Amino acid sequence: MTRTLWINARIVTCDGAVQVSAPGALDLLTEGGRIVALGADLPRGGAKVIDCGGRLMTPAPVDCHTHLVFGGDRAREFELRLEGASYEQISQEGGGIKASMRAVRGLSVEELVTASLPRLDHLLAEGVCTVEIKSGYGLSIEAELNLLRAARQLASRRKVRVVTTWLAAHALPPDYAGRAEDYIREVAIAGLEAAHAEGLVDAVDSFCEGIAFSTAELAPLYDRARALGLPVKIHSEQLSHQGGTAFAAARGAISADHLEYATAEDAALMAASGTVAVLLPGAFYMLRETQLPPVAAFRAAGVPMALSTDCNPGTSPLTSILMTMNMGATLFRMTVPECLLAVTAHAARALGLGHQTGRIAPGLAADLVLWNVETPAQLVARIGFNPLHARIFLGEIV
Ligand code: NIG
Ligand code: FE
Repeated sequence: MTRTLWINARIVTCDGAVQVSAPGALDLLTEGGRIVALGADLPRGGAKVIDCGGRLMTPAPVDCHTHLVFGGDRAREFELRLEGASYEQISQEGGGIKASMRAVRGLSVEELVTASLPRLDHLLAEGVCTVEIKSGYGLSIEAELNLLRAARQLASRRKVRVVTTWLAAHALPPDYAGRAEDYIREVAIAGLEAAHAEGLVDAVDSFCEGIAFSTAELAPLYDRARALGLPVKIHSEQLSHQGGTAFAAARGAISADHLEYATAEDAALMAASGTVAVLLPGAFYMLRETQLPPVAAFRAAGVPMALSTDCNPGTSPLTSILMTMNMGATLFRMTVPECLLAVTAHAARALGLGHQTGRIAPGLAADLVLWNVETPAQLVARIGFNPLHARIFLGEIV
């Protein structure tokens, strides 16, 4: 088992308040992929010593909300929106998620993997060691299964932890028009059982929105998820307030995501249920949304805030976790420490992995990044700049 002593780094543990240690003040010992000890002048005892050269060391970023596996391209919809069409209009006319559905249904698992690898590589190039990947562009049992099969394949092609999410309740496919309850029963629930039996599902998600599903339609799916012992989350209050956040909080959701139209009452419910607020500034930016998520209410209620790329072909074609942090600060007025916690400790919590990754603490995975900067502010402030020096996954420099 490799035993490594990392010396001379400026360490931000993201375990509690964000503070940067002076270079050399703390050493880090890793062994067998785990963090073993953090302290001053740790004994070298046979460990390989790596001098970090005074660089900033953080936990590796966790991208906790992505639709990274998809096919096709929706740049034309971007143009239509620039010409004045709304996201809802494009969706009602058969575009949006349904356009991605048509593209995905024409691809094999291998083709989905090939299409998605460059996006994954982009995230990894900025240090990401854990990525959540949702289904949701297949909208039939087999096509949804294929998306998660491709997600699992990606985990074997790269040194990365992939967490999969069943999002069949993303949109109603044309063959189920006007039959949402049938779709939830025959595809979302029946497919969930098949996917779970195949070991493809780590959590269950849905899109609760006027153009997608209501809480009443979603309830049987969430009941089934609970019966299977699977964690739940939700896309809620993105374009309007539909009550998805309260619905999910009442079911102990690990996260509620988007939340532009969430209220202070939603924040209080999330605080009580321990639900993480996953904010997605890429979609806010691409849709030129003007309604800001209630960051002050989350802060006041003590709801942990995470940030994620929401990488998807329509509303957030974003594969930069660094840009996401920058947008969290500039668009959502989050502080630098909040932005850093949002892509590390809080993002891990949003996946139910808070005791596995996202912080530098003994017992956790040694998922780390060394950056060619000295402070978190230097990481968040710049745009289109990647100061990554080394990505360390399970104790090994990748
Ligand atoms: O998270 N909000 C719903 N789903 C995705 C985007 C869907 C799409 O337009 O492809 C999201 O933004
Ligand atoms: Fe999403």
